[in-house]
Amino acid sequence: MTGLFERAGRQLLFGLDPETAHGLSIKALKCGLPPVRPAPRDARLAVRLAGLDFPNPLGMAAGYDKNGEVPDGILSLGFGFAEVGTVTPLPQPGNPKPRIFRLVRDSAVINRLGFNNEGHDACAARLTARRGKTGIVGVNIGANKDSLDRVADYEAGIRRFAALCSYLTVNISSPNTPGLRNMQARRELAELLGRVVAARQGLANPDHRARPIFLKIAPDLVDAEMEDIAAEILAHPIDGVIVSNTTLSREGLSDAVQAKQTGGLSGKPLFERSTIVLAKMRRLLGPKTAIIGVGGVDSAETALEKIRAGADLVQLYTGLIYGGPALPGRILRDMFELRQREGVTNIAVLRDTRTEHWAARPL
Ligand code: FNR
Repeated sequence: MTGLFERAGRQLLFGLDPETAHGLSIKALKCGLPPVRPAPRDARLAVRLAGLDFPNPLGMAAGYDKNGEVPDGILSLGFGFAEVGTVTPLPQPGNPKPRIFRLVRDSAVINRLGFNNEGHDACAARLTARRGKTGIVGVNIGANKDSLDRVADYEAGIRRFAALCSYLTVNISSPNTPGLRNMQARRELAELLGRVVAARQGLANPDHRARPIFLKIAPDLVDAEMEDIAAEILAHPIDGVIVSNTTLSREGLSDAVQAKQTGGLSGKPLFERSTIVLAKMRRLLGPKTAIIGVGGVDSAETALEKIRAGADLVQLYTGLIYGGPALPGRILRDMFELRQREGVTNIAVLRDTRTEHWAARPL
């Protein structure tokens, strides 16, 4: 019966333009819909990372709940953590519509939203209202398109949200804000990380702990750029890296018409590229730095492969568009079964077992 509802739900949503469908799904989550089978809760799926106890390694990636409207609804689908944002200091409308495109045959999406969001105040008010609730909620922060000092926008994000979330993500990898990805260059990154870490210092969090900071990077990097990024991550006391955001590459797409749309590509065709970059980053960073793997996760197998390539945790977004709200529960149940079948004591023991295999593949 659930399957029937799911198929009908997907048909309904795919009949609408992607942004309307997205709005409707947020409304549904606000109302406690859709009901899903509870995901398995098992200590052997739990991950302790950056001082946080994740009930399972599967998270919702940034960009779905840009304004912090439904983090608890997301968690109720079974996700072990939810990342809200990207949120910028001031509200901004983003690029003209249409700006999200489904590539159904490729199980992919191209978006050029451009950080449309309601700004710090609106998101902070919602997160203040949910204070005291359990569940790991991260806030992904960005810079306004017209900002004269983009680093200052990130500092403001750290100060504003450190006490309201479980971790912060510094997102410098959206392809839809002109020039943003240049902040990944060595000198710019050194300044950014220096200043965000300084902004975190001395902030009074309710639990008296420094909020973990993750850096979210692009998958469109050459080896020398990855080496620079890894060196700066290791030179600053940040907690880890999220690999990756969407790609500008259009390799391997069958939908030649939609492939021409400007924007970042996500979903199945991103899996290979983002997993190679993830493995290369694991090799450069060594075993201690936390890595969250994102890009094309849509099954227990793809999630576990990210972990084998070097990820501690994984996230997904596009998989949910095609797989529907029951997907996180399905992935966790399959992970659980696989773990039992293969006699794995904890999912974390799989980490890095195929890092060399992935890191050796050409980009
Ligand atoms: C995104 N993504 C994203 N990332 C981010 O850091 N801030 C954001 O605001 C957004 N916005 C956004 C909107 C849409 C419509 C999509 C599809 C994606 C990127 C997302 O978090 C993730 O990194 C990529 O989509 C790759 O994962 P999937 O989608 O292949 O699982």
